[in-house]
Amino acid sequence: MLSQQTREIIKATVPVLEQHGQEITTVFYAHLFEAHPELLNIFNKTNQQQGRQQAALAQTVLAAAKHIDHLEAIVPNVNQIAHKHRALQVKAEHYPIVGEHLIYAIKEVLGDAATPDIIAAWTEAYGEIADVFIQMEKALYEEEEWHDFKPFKVTAIKQESAYIKSFTVTPVNDMKLKPVVPGQYITVKVQPEDEQNDMLRHYSICTHDITDGIQFAVKRDVAGTEKGIVSNYLHDKVTVGDELLLSAPAGEFTLQPADQPLVFLSGGVGMTPLMAMLQSSADKQVSFIHSAYNRAEVPFKDEITAFHGKENIQFYFNYSEEAGRLTADKLRQVMTGNEAIYMCGSVSFMESMLVILDELGIDRTNIHFEPFGPKMSITA
Ligand code: HEM
Repeated sequence: MLSQQTREIIKATVPVLEQHGQEITTVFYAHLFEAHPELLNIFNKTNQQQGRQQAALAQTVLAAAKHIDHLEAIVPNVNQIAHKHRALQVKAEHYPIVGEHLIYAIKEVLGDAATPDIIAAWTEAYGEIADVFIQMEKALYEEEEWHDFKPFKVTAIKQESAYIKSFTVTPVNDMKLKPVVPGQYITVKVQPEDEQNDMLRHYSICTHDITDGIQFAVKRDVAGTEKGIVSNYLHDKVTVGDELLLSAPAGEFTLQPADQPLVFLSGGVGMTPLMAMLQSSADKQVSFIHSAYNRAEVPFKDEITAFHGKENIQFYFNYSEEAGRLTADKLRQVMTGNEAIYMCGSVSFMESMLVILDELGIDRTNIHFEPFGPKMSITA
């Protein structure tokens, strides 16, 4: 339990952190990796370079600082991060290491302004925040389907669209798989040639059916300064018969029990977890609205065709190449506003959809979403 004095100091330093948050986490990462280069086997180098992870951590620290009197308020957001940490196999023993380097960075950036009282207060507060994560992750580790990363053999690879391939994998040992919870993702650990470190990436699972193994989808990342090393490696180098290391399925973007009709709203490869959800909701009223640049970029055409003729399931495609982006007017034509909405796509797709859904007056409690990127950058 933090003392009153510590809480006061934490709350008083929020504006300072807001000003220097990004800088602090940048110094933090440089110092962390210098002292612990082995952690480069866990962190995503592309996210580091693009500053995404820095922003995520800074925002989380700020959110926690703002809620220091009632840390339970951050629990819904911690849940998503805890799933990712568990999937990456971040362990309780990593937290003191991160804490030490975060405090170092606060001292370094704030200089003389970082009094011993401020440093002591943040050390204590970090311990409390870390404990929220550690406890949630402990529960997730207890229920994970298998521990650590296990070898899987690639049994099928399918070109699903211009940029998306699906990979089907089965365990190399005799492990019996449980049906996948629709909406979840797996985490792949690879070390492409010329890379010095392991690289971990999350990929959504395409179907809850595991008769043939686990099937996940990978979009070839062609944008950005550093082209997605792992997605290009999987697309170009991995073939049927190869082995991949996987940690157990994770993620809290899953169907919630409700009697409402469903709207699945996806952008690009965001269609993947929603296809798994669709397969387990085949008896429900579903409007599946998918946004893509053009028809060549739409994955899972065989699966979509299999739903043709089912009156309760309607697909709508918006091709931005010819029709422009999705708008509130277009959505108004295909949804009543009383559905439970599940959305998945890039952070920018998610942000624009949330604006549109707000414009339509949709209650946020009916909106469930998973961006391919840090969720808190949208909800904070
Ligand atoms: C991801 C916060 C501790 C390793 C994240 C994300 C947040 C976050 C907000 C982004 C989640 C998303 O993508 O939705 C925190 C906070 C921590 C903490 C507040 C301490 C209280 C740790 C520790 C480790 C770690 C101890 C391991 C040394 C990672 C990794 C990612 C991640 C590898 C994936 C993102 C990437 O590689 O770019 N964390 N984290 N985190 N975290 Fe943490």
